[in-house]
Amino acid sequence: MASGSASTSEDRGDKRPSAETTATGPSNGAADAGGVSAAEAKDAFRRVLVVEDNEDTRTSFRQYLEMVLKVEVDTAEDGKQALEFLLQRPYSVVITDLRMPRLSGMQLIEQIQANRIPVTVIVTTGHGSVADAVKAMRMGAYDFLTKPTAPEHFHVLVERALRERSLQDELAALRAKLQGRHSFQNVVSKSQRMFEIFELIGHVADTATTVLITGETGTGKEQLARAVHQASAQARSGPFVAVNCAALPESLLESELFGHEKGSFTGAATQRVGRFQQAHGGTLFLDEVGDIPASMQIKLLRVLQERKFERVGGNSTIEVDVRVIAATNRPLDKMVKAGQFREDLYYRLDVVKIDLPPLRERTEDIPLLAAHFAHKYARPGQAPAQFAPEAMDRLLAYAWPGNIRQLENAIERASLTAREGVIRPENLPPDLTRPAAAKVGLAVDLSRPLPDQLAELTSRFEERYLRKALKRCRGHIGRCAKLSGLSRRSISNKVSQFNIDTSSYK
Ligand SMILES: Nc1ncnc2c1ncn2[C@@H]1O[C@H](COP(=O)(O)OP(=O)(O)OP(=O)(O)O)[C@@H](O)[C@H]1O
Ligand SMILES: [Mg+2]
Repeated sequence: MASGSASTSEDRGDKRPSAETTATGPSNGAADAGGVSAAEAKDAFRRVLVVEDNEDTRTSFRQYLEMVLKVEVDTAEDGKQALEFLLQRPYSVVITDLRMPRLSGMQLIEQIQANRIPVTVIVTTGHGSVADAVKAMRMGAYDFLTKPTAPEHFHVLVERALRERSLQDELAALRAKLQGRHSFQNVVSKSQRMFEIFELIGHVADTATTVLITGETGTGKEQLARAVHQASAQARSGPFVAVNCAALPESLLESELFGHEKGSFTGAATQRVGRFQQAHGGTLFLDEVGDIPASMQIKLLRVLQERKFERVGGNSTIEVDVRVIAATNRPLDKMVKAGQFREDLYYRLDVVKIDLPPLRERTEDIPLLAAHFAHKYARPGQAPAQFAPEAMDRLLAYAWPGNIRQLENAIERASLTAREGVIRPENLPPDLTRPAAAKVGLAVDLSRPLPDQLAELTSRFEERYLRKALKRCRGHIGRCAKLSGLSRRSISNKVSQFNIDTSSYK
């Protein structure tokens, strides 16, 4: 999705009820990404495109809109130029003349519908051609104005169209949120392995079972821990408390986790409630649990077994009801064998294990996450950046050693440097263009079955092939079928499987 400069509704994931509503339908938001909030959509851009072959009228419309309505305005001399603009950047409202050279207003509306461009259309007509205006409205235009235009009428109508548009955007965002097809508690994914993880979380939600999350750096371990906590909110209403076990020296870690009594050691001026107690009724997230020192491992083991502990320097035993979620990017099983991690503690932690796959093993998530972050880092009041096909190819071919965090950083920077709302290869970090990087994806991983790894490789290759072929064939399914030696039907199936927006290759 969102793999091109055209901001169609499809690559934003909202499904339109019918072609009739297209010209006034919903827009704006990486709907598939599921992270769009109604408030964000409300602040959507206010950009108007004036399409008019008469220069005087064009200028007076532009001046009025800019000065009185304070909206951003672009102008086009005919329908053809207007269509080019509409395919390049998002607009809230188009005000178009009907009779123009090259592409008429009526043809422009047809194109807006054919390309599913989410924009509200107002048509302007000279006296005596109201019948045309009515026809345009039947085709999906929002309203019409007769020229010469009375300023008050013009003002009221454009304001109304802008309001209507932001309402549509808000509805689209809400709908996307409710559907939440590709997200679980803000964890965005459409990969089968992640769906299995979501399902597992569903099962542990109403229990207090310990969960161990493993995965490379930046794969979303903390994010997933929060998702488990949120999914459990009905059964367990206490807070989410996080402790980074690697960040504290041994002496402080004990007091951090269990608390201390006043005067129990130098500097303990007051009593302190530990993290275990703070998390009562909720979740304690033990991040980087592989870094916990040996002396603390035994103390942790006892709390996990008995859910009881004493504060440092205290005698009374405190009982808590806490779900522990531990995370690490270190290989705990190997550490156990090497005698660096207590085996009994390992088994206490490893009750339900979630192994987060690295991003290079779920490339189908790359376009989805990229769109999600483009939305997250869109400038205030502006639509999220779109991706030029070549930029998306780079994102898909890269091995992402820093996983989702690295992707997030790349898109944040690219969103800042993108011109005309489109992220191109030059906006991406230079690492991504290094050819060696692509080969890292071929690394052999003996911890997972061969057929799984082969299936992933094939699917990644297929997607890259398809994108390249579509680029060559300018998005034409038939020609792409011929080129690849597959049927049209299987090309169409793959296009939807990989969520490719063919219109962005036109
Ligand atoms: N599936 C996802 N959908 C959306 N955002 C995600 C997803 N997974 C991770 N992120 C984002 O990526 C960033 C890194 O995630 P997180 O901090 O949870 O990783 P981590 O595995 O804990 O990394 P580390 O091992 O380095 O601590 C965060 O900003 C997080 O919000
Ligand atoms: Mg982390």
